Amino acid sequence: MKPRPNFDHPVHELIQRRWSPRAFSSKQVDEKVLLTLFEAARWAASAMNEQPWRFIYATKNHEERYNKLVDCLSEGNKIWAMHAPVLIMTLIKTHFEHNNEYNRWAMHDLGLAIGNLSWLFSNENR
Ligand SMILES: Cc1cc2nc3c(=O)[nH]c(=O)nc-3n(C[C@H](O)[C@H](O)[C@H](O)COP(=O)(O)O)c2cc1C
Repeated sequence: MKPRPNFDHPVHELIQRRWSPRAFSSKQVDEKVLLTLFEAARWAASAMNEQPWRFIYATKNHEERYNKLVDCLSEGNKIWAMHAPVLIMTLIKTHFEHNNEYNRWAMHDLGLAIGNLSWLFSNENR
């Protein structure tokens, strides 16, 4: 576990405990927990309520899909990420549904969604 930094101002426990691990237990993540993470992501704000985030995930049980996701990683990240019990590829829908114009907020909105997910993930999996 990462030591907690000294916060200059009070912040929510979920934010205090979020961090970026690069070592993982081999324990499987319960599917209910995964669904809760995606539910948290799904309720993020988005421009025009477009919800442009898309996720492809694999646990070690989805061997073929998991290996395909590992193949997408840079060599430097493969070393540690290939041991994670779950891999999630994040994508965006690049054009708005209502007018097919380019959605330049899509990456921003994906970041918000991933923020929701990763605060919970840091707190659920320790
Ligand atoms: C968009 C984005 C891309 C990142 N890419 C990598 C990466 O390729 N490899 C890696 O080890 N960490 C990556 N990180 C993790 C950051 O390096 C990490 O968040 C930062 O070191 C701060 O540590 P903390 O999250 O534990 O506070 C990425 C983080 C973000 C937000």
